Amino acid sequence: MAVASLPEVLAAPAIGDVPESDVCSLENYLALPDHTMDSRIAGARAKLGATAIILGHHYQRDEVIRFADFRGDSYKLAQEGARTAAKYILFCGVHFMAESADILAKPGQVAVLPDLNAGCSMADMAEITQVEDCWDTLVRNGITDAAGQGVTPLTYMNSTAAIKAFCGERGGLVCTSSNAPAAFKWAFAQSGGRNEKILFLPDQHLGRNTGYALGIPLDQMVVFDPYLLNGGLTRQQYQNAKVILWKGHCSVHQRFLPEHVDSVRAAHPGIQVIVHPECRWEVCQKADDTGSTEKLIKLITEAPAGTSFAVGTEVHLVNRMAKEFAAQGKKVISLNDSGCLCTTMYRISPQHLCWALENLVEGNIVNQIKVDDEVKHWARVALDRMLEVR
Ligand code: 13P
Ligand code: SF4
Repeated sequence: MAVASLPEVLAAPAIGDVPESDVCSLENYLALPDHTMDSRIAGARAKLGATAIILGHHYQRDEVIRFADFRGDSYKLAQEGARTAAKYILFCGVHFMAESADILAKPGQVAVLPDLNAGCSMADMAEITQVEDCWDTLVRNGITDAAGQGVTPLTYMNSTAAIKAFCGERGGLVCTSSNAPAAFKWAFAQSGGRNEKILFLPDQHLGRNTGYALGIPLDQMVVFDPYLLNGGLTRQQYQNAKVILWKGHCSVHQRFLPEHVDSVRAAHPGIQVIVHPECRWEVCQKADDTGSTEKLIKLITEAPAGTSFAVGTEVHLVNRMAKEFAAQGKKVISLNDSGCLCTTMYRISPQHLCWALENLVEGNIVNQIKVDDEVKHWARVALDRMLEVR
């Protein structure tokens, strides 16, 4: 990363020197080079003090994550968001994460997403009307009643607030990749242990990988396709299934293929292959271990010097770990050398962060993420259940 020279830092306008109209306008920031943002972000951050907290997901770029007060996986950030007393929660992550921060926020707290275009293609694959149609299909086929006696709906954190609320209202909960196995066990214990089925939204891979690790055979996990009549399944298939997986995926993690595992092992004998559970089942089966972003970091941290890792997750985290662990004699490479980038996480730039912070200093809240009250209530029920399940 280019570090600003002293003359450049001195030339960058101080917050008080920027006319209010300039502070408000994002366009004025987007034209400026990254390195000129450093001192301004630090200055605005210092002025806001304890009134603001910056949360950064591990996939954020270096120029942004280094300003995070807390970095972590979705679970850790959700916990941190719920714990903080800061008035402003600046979420350097994607839309569903900022929504969750707003849902868990205390009265008066404000969640801000520095760029509203930072969405998640997986979350967008399950729309609430489609999920409601799916539930009607399950009711019609006699698999569950409308309230969830029969099927427990679970949604991955990577979903809209409306989907989280849908699950909360029907006796289900939210999970992340770090507590998905515990959430599955919890779900099967609902209705006094009579709920023998789970509807898992929206990531079919995380659902399949989790179910399989808990001993559920692949043929008892069926895929519901929202674009097909009856989800593309027969009544018999619904009856035989233990897990009904939504047909969604992460376009970043789906790019890792089983042949990448074979070729990296052939090229680097002894290398450890570790992948995120959003990767395909075939990839996870071949890997030495799987886990959330936080767990992947932990696995490398705890390995002895000299260990090499091929990691199946987003490229910014992989590149950062490659740099940080090189000093400990550990080699980290991407499992797919064409590099898998989450383009929506990448939307959060230093310019967006600076713009959001400087506006807060001026008393302007920009890009607030505010979930509708009715949705918030049930989504909170589902998120509170998640925070209790580990
Ligand atoms: P983690 O919860 O493991 O950080 O994953 C979030 C995510 O979006 C992965 O694609
Ligand atoms: Fe969504 Fe995939 Fe990006 Fe994670 S990596 S935020 S699941 S698109």
